[in-house]
Amino acid sequence: MRIRKATPEDIPALLPLLRELFSFEEEFCFDSSTQRRGLELLFASGAATVYAVEQQGRLIASASLHEGVSTAMGAKSAWLEDVIVLPPYRGQGIGKELLEAVKADAKKRGIERISVLTDQGNVRAQRLYTGLGFCISPMVCMRGFI
Ligand code: ACO
Repeated sequence: MRIRKATPEDIPALLPLLRELFSFEEEFCFDSSTQRRGLELLFASGAATVYAVEQQGRLIASASLHEGVSTAMGAKSAWLEDVIVLPPYRGQGIGKELLEAVKADAKKRGIERISVLTDQGNVRAQRLYTGLGFCISPMVCMRGFI
């Protein structure tokens, strides 16, 4: 198993991972061309890093980190998004190892806080984040479409 930074060449292999994630998340539906465009924008932005777990030449897990700045912290901060481990590989410590690698890389880059959103009922993901030192914020997520 190898954890590495993904590149635009990985987009075709990242799409099945997003299909799995969005079939699971309550708010989103998978659409291949939309998610392809999203990944293309992400790589072109230069403000996000996509991390991939590769096993025997196949991507089995991924996560992305979107960098920003927190005035509250006076420091770089980031949002963790699109965390997914394919079903046959779950419960083997892969998610934890991937996110530990993301955290270590973020720290190296001077990022001092990572935020993440999960479905309220996604206890498995919440346990994963709690185990990595995250705690629940009193803030509520609100969205406005433009
Ligand atoms: N039930 C409850 N908690 C669990 C379970 C389970 N079946 N499996 C793992 N966990 C928790 C435990 O706390 C575990 O730590 P521990 O073993 O020390 O107790 C911790 O997660 C890490 O376990 P891993 O084996 O590393 O987790 P896994 O590789 O299975 O990845 C993940 C966890 C990413 C949540 C995976 O189950 C998954 O892909 N789920 C579907 C997609 C998803 O929910 N993604 C997160 C959405 S939020 C977002 O993307 C920002």
